[in-house]
Amino acid sequence: MKDKLIIDFGKIFGNGSGTAVYFAPGRVNLIGEHTDYNGGHVFPCALTIGTYAVARMREDKIIRVYSKNFEDTGIIEFSIDELVKKKEHDWANYPKGVVWAFSQEGFCINKGFEILFYGNIPNGAGLSSSASIELVTSVILKDLYKFDLDMIEMVKLSKLAENKFIGVNCGIMDQFAIGMGKENCAVLLDTNNLNYTYARINLKDASIVIANTNKIRGLADSKYNERRSQCEEALKGLQQKLEINSLGEITEEEFNKHKHLIKNSINIKRAKHAICENQRTIKAVKALQEEDIETFGLLMNASHVSLRDDYEVTGVELDTLAEIAWNQKGVVGSRMTGAGFGGCTVSIVKNDYIDDFIKNVGESYAEKIGYEASFYVVNIGDGARKLN
Ligand code: GLA
Repeated sequence: MKDKLIIDFGKIFGNGSGTAVYFAPGRVNLIGEHTDYNGGHVFPCALTIGTYAVARMREDKIIRVYSKNFEDTGIIEFSIDELVKKKEHDWANYPKGVVWAFSQEGFCINKGFEILFYGNIPNGAGLSSSASIELVTSVILKDLYKFDLDMIEMVKLSKLAENKFIGVNCGIMDQFAIGMGKENCAVLLDTNNLNYTYARINLKDASIVIANTNKIRGLADSKYNERRSQCEEALKGLQQKLEINSLGEITEEEFNKHKHLIKNSINIKRAKHAICENQRTIKAVKALQEEDIETFGLLMNASHVSLRDDYEVTGVELDTLAEIAWNQKGVVGSRMTGAGFGGCTVSIVKNDYIDDFIKNVGESYAEKIGYEASFYVVNIGDGARKLN
């Protein structure tokens, strides 16, 4: 892969010395959904699929980027003096946003560069192809300009690019999982204080299977932001009596005692999800540590139900995938993953039943929805890095 990409780089930008190759994974969240902007826990892992990038410094102030995934767009070019989001720059706004974020935070980028990207994460599937581009760009900038930065700082800079340059008000989970991921481990992250621990994922005779609804996502960003505001409103209600800064700080029992402080019934449901999902995530990780995969699976299913009924971010496509999965032999657990409104489910399936799972779920889904889902059996890999 590396050698092939260096040859491709030469064809696009011209041969020469000084190129290096970098990689950032995609991510899948096993449990802990819509908790990361509520001060709760998340439990994602980095994948072995992701974004490769070949980069080389230039002597002038021009940045030139090219993606093998969008060859029709050709080379996109801009100056380090003009870091503004442009609609026609499309996917290139992600690396541009990262350069902007570095500059904003005082990292001096005074020379241009060129990057060739190639990603093998399905785009728009909710596996964080955009955060993957952001992190690979951060790792490139650190390396080219020899910035003294650790990975968590790069995670924060990438999130800044997404929030303030791209304009998506996401939490920190995606960038964190992609930056800090570790082979065969998921990361238990407390988004309240960024404390984290790695938990080995030993599924014994089972694997992680991702199913993509292939739904074209429409208003996902605006609905995402709406959920955020509903949680903020609910928090304000609770703060009338409770001294808390986030929904992640209270238990289900405390919530039940004080939920009458939230006046809007929809906001009560939103807060209920955020609070219970946080507790579920902690329980799920405990179950995994005790090698109790069955309980972990049941908590995954409960997470989906809560996202379906209380948070209302699933939709018929994700519900269909999860509900068919629950009725299949060999399925330990299945739920939507990521923001929702389309995107993917994540399932834990016993190895002996994976072929049947893909066939049966695929057929029932196509019959009910009218188009096909895609399936990927994935492995857990390391976070963003330079490839030597
Ligand atoms: C998206 C966001 C994350 C997180 C998830 C939902 O992936 O980018 O920050 O909020 O949705 O858990």
